[in-house]
Amino acid sequence: MNTTTPPSAASPQEPTVQALLASEPERAAYRDYAQPGLDRVRAFYRNNHQHQTYDFVRGKKAQWLGFAQREMTPWAALEFLNTLVDESDPDIELPQISHLLQTAEAIRADGHPDWFVLTGFIHDLGKVLCLFGEPQWAVVGDTFPVGCRFSERIVYPEYFALNPDSRDDRYNSEYGVYTPGCGLDAVHMSWGHDEYLYQLMKAHLPLPALYMIRYHSFYAWHREGQYGHLTDAQDRAHLEWVRKFNPYDLYSKNDRPPVLAELKPYYDGLMAKYLPASLKL
Ligand SMILES: [Fe+2]
Ligand SMILES: [Fe+2]
Repeated sequence: MNTTTPPSAASPQEPTVQALLASEPERAAYRDYAQPGLDRVRAFYRNNHQHQTYDFVRGKKAQWLGFAQREMTPWAALEFLNTLVDESDPDIELPQISHLLQTAEAIRADGHPDWFVLTGFIHDLGKVLCLFGEPQWAVVGDTFPVGCRFSERIVYPEYFALNPDSRDDRYNSEYGVYTPGCGLDAVHMSWGHDEYLYQLMKAHLPLPALYMIRYHSFYAWHREGQYGHLTDAQDRAHLEWVRKFNPYDLYSKNDRPPVLAELKPYYDGLMAKYLPASLKL
């Protein structure tokens, strides 16, 4: 249970060092969807954009947000996740737990609060959905609102022509089923690990952490500046936190995984402080 005082929604602190992140010149090589040999990623997004409809998302929420699949400790869930390699990610072929440790250790090296480090360590835990039998296109990859027009600034936008919502007048206008400034909480995002983990963690972590978890794959918003017409004041106040998280997720990826055994006692303490002893997934 979270027993600490949540931080205010004021601006996140500037990092002090970024020793564990890729340098600025190196960063151009990440999220390069035009690089050759990414047929795996392209096929992934073709499926994702074709099948993530408004009805599909609502069905997945009904299916998974009862959290009735199984019960396990946070560590067991992480170890379970460790068998997965993410097909949507052009930058990494390491086990998930290595990516989580790299993200969290880079956040810790910059002196951020412990809840921020823990957020880095668990932010992809929702990918366990893949191990429950969901196809990767329904779990990972960039997310976007459904129920309104798809932005041209989403990765591989050409594949939205395959999505039946693109031809449905209820869903293909600027606002679709939503109202101006309704707030992202009222917006159905394409289904995946972000929303699933947010719902699992919402009683346990401070609001900036929940924004990072829920919207870390919503690049059309936090990087491309799209969908502002659906946001409310709380969303706009927390966008900076989502952006603060992103470099740790993206630029801590490298082929030198940290050694879990050396770091486990520290992360044991963080989990004991914030998370329940067992998670209902
Ligand atoms: Fe993720
Ligand atoms: Fe990640």
